[in-house]
Amino acid sequence: MQLGVCYYPEHWPETEWSSDAARMREVGISKVRLGEFAWSRYEPNPGDYHWNWLHRAIDILHAEGLEVILGTPTACPPKWLVDQHPDILATDEQGMTRGFGSRRHYCFSSEIYRQHSKRIVREMAQQFGDHPAVVAWQTDNEYGCHSTIVSYSAEAQRAFRLWCSEQFDSIEALNSAWNNIFWSMEYSNFDAIDVPNLAVTELNPAHRLAFWRFSSAQVASFNAEQVSILRKHSPGRDLMHNYMGNFCEFDHYPVADTLDVAGWDSYPLGFLDRDNENAQSRIDWLRTGHPDCAPFHHDLYRGVGQGRWWVIEQQPGAVNWAPHNPAPLAGMVKYWAMEALAHGAELCSFFRWRQHPAAQERHHTGLLLPNGEPGPAFQEVKEVAAEIASLGGVASVPKTPAPVALLFDYVGNAALETQPQGVNYDPQGWTQALYRALRRCGVDVDVLPIGRALEGYQMVILANATVDSPELTQQLINFEGTVLIGPRSFSQNVHCCTPDTLAPGSLQSLISLRVIGAESLPDAVPMAAAEYTAWRWRERVQSAIKPEALFEDGWGFHYRQGKVHYLNAQLQDDSLRRFVAHRLKEAEIVVRPCSPGLRYTQRGSLQYVFNAGPASVSIESPSGEQDLAPGEYCHWQVV
Ligand code: GAL
Repeated sequence: MQLGVCYYPEHWPETEWSSDAARMREVGISKVRLGEFAWSRYEPNPGDYHWNWLHRAIDILHAEGLEVILGTPTACPPKWLVDQHPDILATDEQGMTRGFGSRRHYCFSSEIYRQHSKRIVREMAQQFGDHPAVVAWQTDNEYGCHSTIVSYSAEAQRAFRLWCSEQFDSIEALNSAWNNIFWSMEYSNFDAIDVPNLAVTELNPAHRLAFWRFSSAQVASFNAEQVSILRKHSPGRDLMHNYMGNFCEFDHYPVADTLDVAGWDSYPLGFLDRDNENAQSRIDWLRTGHPDCAPFHHDLYRGVGQGRWWVIEQQPGAVNWAPHNPAPLAGMVKYWAMEALAHGAELCSFFRWRQHPAAQERHHTGLLLPNGEPGPAFQEVKEVAAEIASLGGVASVPKTPAPVALLFDYVGNAALETQPQGVNYDPQGWTQALYRALRRCGVDVDVLPIGRALEGYQMVILANATVDSPELTQQLINFEGTVLIGPRSFSQNVHCCTPDTLAPGSLQSLISLRVIGAESLPDAVPMAAAEYTAWRWRERVQSAIKPEALFEDGWGFHYRQGKVHYLNAQLQDDSLRRFVAHRLKEAEIVVRPCSPGLRYTQRGSLQYVFNAGPASVSIESPSGEQDLAPGEYCHWQVV
């Protein structure tokens, strides 16, 4: 694994660029990402290109032996372009224009914006595509950040109608697939279909999920346009996009299909405070982040990137965008970098080199203070660099395949979000609950898309495979290990329609049962079945198979047929952990129970152990008993 940093030469006097580059090299950084927000400096006026300053910046980095990851600047169209073509802007759900003045102010469906995106990427790629320092490109920046996947603009409407007409042979076929006879929603032609907003009450879920899939496809095609230009003018370079944490608003797999590497932006403390609903958890992990937050995404994006993935933005201190922005525990920056390494990252790059004294991110930490003096993380980066060097080649072997594959499906996730059938039904949260349960058992996990080869795994878990897929059923019939099917699996088709055979659709050829009813429940109403506590969601199952346990009111709980298990309820964390531990043991997967903050993970022949806290833990290592304080880790060679 290499170390990198995000750098904005356009923010600093040119006289400082050389010393910045020298200090980066001294601290152990080898890759620098730059350029993704500087369009107004590349093209201050239409067609008036100013590339020389970026040439000079890249040459300076190159002279220090640093490699460059160049970002295409399309997340920030300049003001003149917005003034010339206001219709490149997106429209929000209320029909209001999302204006200029921050970033990501564009609509993926705008034809004019697509032309300008291709033009600026081509110009940039022609300038820098064969520069020896440029080893990789980042397309745009964080697709979807600030809720920007969906736009309800006239351009989106035009493109959505076209997309619908490509999905169906006739409008009758669409009406039938979407069940538009319900509430007289039938259309007589594709041009009658509107974007799904501003209706009186709930819109047809088929319409909404179709719009989600369309919006997602717009991201993939926008990205693919940049990719084909970069491939042409910058051959041999890695192409990457930086995805986000806890973000499911588009299907990442088709975007990744055209790229070489999956990047992701890791802000463990920001995510904890922004996204974690559990107040105690926000306190317990205040300065370390939740022990499974970054690892879940590492394991997810390793799957998205088909093995190759980078942390392209790593939190180096307090951020500026969460409800509260604590400083990390001393040592955490080093810990997060080594954790990324243990999960198989090729690169860990810190955001940002130097804290900016002004503008929106004035309060966001950098490796340097605004005045250029080293900040608290600077020394930790040096230490990580030394530690990686001491590992020799071990840090470059790929991550060891895990015993368990957790299937994660973005469309299935969106389907559940379209009709959650309970305010507390959180499909992403449920997937992460399964992940947490596995990791508390000390087990490594590969998070994979549906369709990836399953040979070699001992267990496969369906987390949010909501949409019936006969291909996956066939794959699972051929799979020899344990299959754990989660609730709501295969409960609909892609048009939000229940299978004729009821849920779990085609999976009934794997396990003979059907779901004849379901209920959602408030958190305060748990339901017990033997030693387990279910909550939030429970299904009534009809089957000749005897359930493994009964709920108090006689509903069955947990069905098994050979190595196939159907879990017909969501379980609370403790119960889920015990349930998963039983399945792992039956599958002869080694279970190593972990205290709340302790996690094991193996890369190559190195076994890592991390303790995120909140207390010190004593572990057994080959050299005997060892104490790990919160924020500490250790590793040893496995034979
Ligand atoms: C990311 C973004 C960066 C920066 C960072 C601050 O979402 O890609 O440009 O804003 O957050 O934490």
